[in-house]
Amino acid sequence: MQALADRLRPERRIAFVPTMGFLHEGHLSLIRLARDAGDVVVVSIFVNPTQFGPGEDFHEYPRALDRDLALAQKEGVDIVFTPSEAELYPEGFETYVHLERLPRHLCGLSRPVFFRGVATVVTKLFHIVKPHAAVFGEKDYQQLMVVKKMVRDLDMDVTIIAGPTVREPDGLAMSSRNSYLSNEQRRSALSLCQALIEAQQMVSSGERSAERIVSAAKDVIACFPETDIDYIRIFDPETLEDRQEINGPVRMALAVRVGTTRLIDNYLLDPAR
Ligand code: PAJ
Repeated sequence: MQALADRLRPERRIAFVPTMGFLHEGHLSLIRLARDAGDVVVVSIFVNPTQFGPGEDFHEYPRALDRDLALAQKEGVDIVFTPSEAELYPEGFETYVHLERLPRHLCGLSRPVFFRGVATVVTKLFHIVKPHAAVFGEKDYQQLMVVKKMVRDLDMDVTIIAGPTVREPDGLAMSSRNSYLSNEQRRSALSLCQALIEAQQMVSSGERSAERIVSAAKDVIACFPETDIDYIRIFDPETLEDRQEINGPVRMALAVRVGTTRLIDNYLLDPAR
């Protein structure tokens, strides 16, 4: 892949979409953005072990390489990079990329190794694929911010492009992990986006207290069976620090377990909308 990237780079713009596979419309929307951003589109498929904690779903994570390859081909992807675990993490691997502050919020609290794993694998993939631009989804808002910050802090010569969250017709954010849900859990999974819609409606009708909005969101989620809230937060879109009062655009994010499946979603809350 490095040799190929070296050959391509002088004349072609390389646009890159890193994924863990089991591709859905969310991934495909990023591939379309990559096509607009470059001449050669590279997609990686690698279920990265270092971003899963003990007891998380690394082994169960859905995998369907043949289907993914067919979808990638249909979208006009030029190169699919599928490294093995032994290639990316050979015996004796010991170097990690660690951010000091951004992982102390939101998902970083309940998934302590997650952002170290993401920052490390994305750095490695950037060094291998050598992209001019890389596309990440807003669905994983904290991950997007971590990648942007890492690129800035470590002077990586890659333009980061953000893609909007793609949703099912009923509002559920698309995710490879939705495949874990039973029919009843699939209905409860709607609680995440319904809580976010309720929040935006409150902000639109003049509510400015983050505490009251979070409390209303908790009530929405509690109405759905098998839900267990990990966090609901309203925060500064850049620093991810909590905001008490909504006097400009802020982000709201939440993580909810539905049965044993942990789902996340987020939304821009804007008083001007
Ligand atoms: P994965 O969950 O496969 O997601 C790959 C990319 O697709 C990420 O940038 C993610 O934000 C984006 N994505 C997922 N669901 C989306 C949706 N509904 N709408 C828009 N974009 C969506 O995120 C990872 O893999 C990994 O952490 C990775 C960055 C590949 C590092 O291992």
